[in-house]
Formats: sequence, structure tokens, C-alpha cells
Amino acid sequence: MAAAAAATRLRWLCAQLVMFSGALGWLGYQAGLQLEPGTAQAAASTPPALYSIAAPAARTAQVERAPASDERETFLGMSSERLRQRMQSGQIRSIKKNRGGSSISLRIEFSDGSRAAFKPIQSNPQTVPRKEAAAYVLSRLLGLNLVSPVVMRTVHRDELFEKLDPASLPSRPRIERETVFDEHGKTLGAFSYWIPRVADLRLDTTAGIHRWTEWLGQGGSIPPEKTLLMSQLSSLLIFDLLQNNSDRFSGGNLLGAPDGKTLYFMDNAFGFQADPEGHTRCWFYLHRVQKFSLRLVQALEGLRADALAAAMVWSRADGSQQPLLTDEEQAALLSRRDRALSHIDQAITMYGRENVLVFD
Ligand SMILES: Nc1ncnc2c1ncn2[C@@H]1O[C@H](COP(=O)(O)OP(=O)(O)O)[C@@H](O)[C@H]1O
Ligand SMILES: [Mg+2]
Repeated sequence: MAAAAAATRLRWLCAQLVMFSGALGWLGYQAGLQLEPGTAQAAASTPPALYSIAAPAARTAQVERAPASDERETFLGMSSERLRQRMQSGQIRSIKKNRGGSSISLRIEFSDGSRAAFKPIQSNPQTVPRKEAAAYVLSRLLGLNLVSPVVMRTVHRDELFEKLDPASLPSRPRIERETVFDEHGKTLGAFSYWIPRVADLRLDTTAGIHRWTEWLGQGGSIPPEKTLLMSQLSSLLIFDLLQNNSDRFSGGNLLGAPDGKTLYFMDNAFGFQADPEGHTRCWFYLHRVQKFSLRLVQALEGLRADALAAAMVWSRADGSQQPLLTDEEQAALLSRRDRALSHIDQAITMYGRENVLVFD
């Protein structure tokens, strides 16, 4: 069984490698820097090379091609590829500012009624759209299917403001001030499939943290109806260390299905710093966990640098591929992966494999 799973994973990784092998030459630290202005000064200065998007200066959104991916992948029972294609090329009907949150986070409604969250490149250094896309790619590489599908797509400023919903007009000055547009008037951002209903699962309240710390530690037993959710939370805390997302417990970032049975891994636009050890905040929560998913551990063990590099790209309309993460960011990610595996190994040494790898 384990051999069959390993073979399936290997086949999948090979397919990824072949599909994206042409992208390897694009990867590099310099290119990565171009993707991330990062500060208000950078936002105000001459647009970097990223913004010279080779496309007619149309007023409608420019469509980039989605990178190829496994056709069988699904999100909430729908083909991830279909969801991504729809976001990539759908006609935008209206745009609203999302309430709450510290970033420019918008909700796009397409003509067919489907929706996407849209985070453009912005002066807030804590919201970097390519990282939202990188988190999605990483989740797929690890076989986690709880990150909403993401594509990179540009929107022209005229379209953005023409289609801004009247209720969001008071936010217009802030959107204009903080969104970074290129010399053609376009902004590049991450579109994430809009999950129709989400609820705060209260996993970040003091009481919530207390409860799950007991359940995911070796001392407590998980109520049967909470097993799936706890398995997802355990995997999320590993995933957060890998992407170095220290923002998870800052409020409003632990959302899930209203029935409380599924956790969505949302708001991943801040992370992937070139920190080989991982943020102390990620470790603060991960240290509470001593129960993990066997499949995730196998995926972590199987994650190879070349497959990661090949997958961490997005495609422009002209077919050229752009890196989502710099070489340094990828190396740091792999180092954090090693540390995550050491953490799990230590738990196995102390408590035994059968008590630690308790989730599927
Ligand atoms: N893909 C999505 N599906 C459904 N709701 C979303 C989605 N993305 C964002 N939201 C909603 O918008 C809010 C703000 O988005 P978030 O990604 O957390 O950005 P911020 O960086 O502003 O916190 C979320 O708390 C959630 O309610
Ligand atoms: Mg948030």
C-alpha cells in the first residue's frame, strides 16, 4: 500500500517536472525581486520590469494562461482546473472591497455569477499576491486540497474603478493609493476561487487553542466528530511552517465550512521569507502538535528541489513563465521542510509511530 502510494506520488512529481521543465531557466533571485516591490517607496518608484507585460494596452483585464496541472485535482468537489480557467478568463461584472482585513482585498464577480477574491500588488508589504499563488502550488505539491485555487491575472485600473461597486466607493481613494499599477495602468494580482460560505471556526480563541492543544497533544483523545478537522489543523500548522506564514493566528484567518467540518487554508499572502528556520510564531503553534498525517509526512519526504522549482511558476499571456518564488525562498522552504520532519521524527521517537502518525 505504502509502495503504491509512493509510486503514485513519484509519477505525479515526474509529470509536474516534465510539464514545467521549460520554466527552470526563469528562476532566479533577481526575477523574484522584480515580482515584489515590497515597500511604499518601491511602489511609488519607476515600475520594475515585471510590469512590462507584453500585451495590447486593452482596458479589459489581460488574460494569462494558467499553468498546466493535474486534471484530476478537485476543490470542494469541482475540477480545480475548471475553476482556475474560469478565473483566468472570466468577464468581470463587478468588484467590491472585502470588509475587514488589513490589505487591499477585493471580491470579483464574473458575468456567470461565479466569484473570486482578488489581491493586487500593493504597497502593504504583508500582502504579496505571488505568495498567495505559491501557497496554492505548494499545497498541490503536498496533496493538500484545502487551499482555494489561485491564478495570477492583471486588471486595468480603468476597469477596476469602472466596475467598483457603489458600496465600495468610499474605499476608492485607499485602493488608488495602495494598489501598484504599471506604466500601462495594470495591476497584477492573485485571484482565488471565492468559497461561497465560510465561518470562523474559533480555533484561534484562547478556549479554542486550549481545546485543540489537548486533542493534538499525546495526552488527549480527539472526539470522533472532530477527527477530520483536527487532522486538517495539524496539516495546516505544518503547511504554515513550510510557507513561514506567521499571520495565521492574527484574527480571521482560520475559516472553514459553516458546519465546522472542513478547515480552509486561506489568506496565504504573507510568508515564504528566506528564513531557513521558520518564524517563532509558526513554531509556537506547531510545538503543541504531536499527531500528524501519514500522507503529509510522505509528501514532505518526497518533495524535491527540482520539482518545487519547476512547479513554482505562473504563465503570462505571451507564454513566458515567471517564478513565484526566488531560489533563496525555495531553499529556505526546503530547509523548513527538513525541520518539520525532524520535529515529527522527535515525536515518533518519544511516543511511537502508531501514536504520532494517526491521521490518514
Ligand atoms: N477565497 C475566498 N473565499 C471566500 N471568502 C474569502 C476568500 N478570500 C477572502 N475572503 C474573505 O475576505 C476576508 C479578507 O481576506 P483575507 O484573504 O483574509 O485578506 P486580508 O489580508 O485582508 O486579511 C476573509 O476573512 C474572508 O472573509
Ligand atoms: Mg486575513
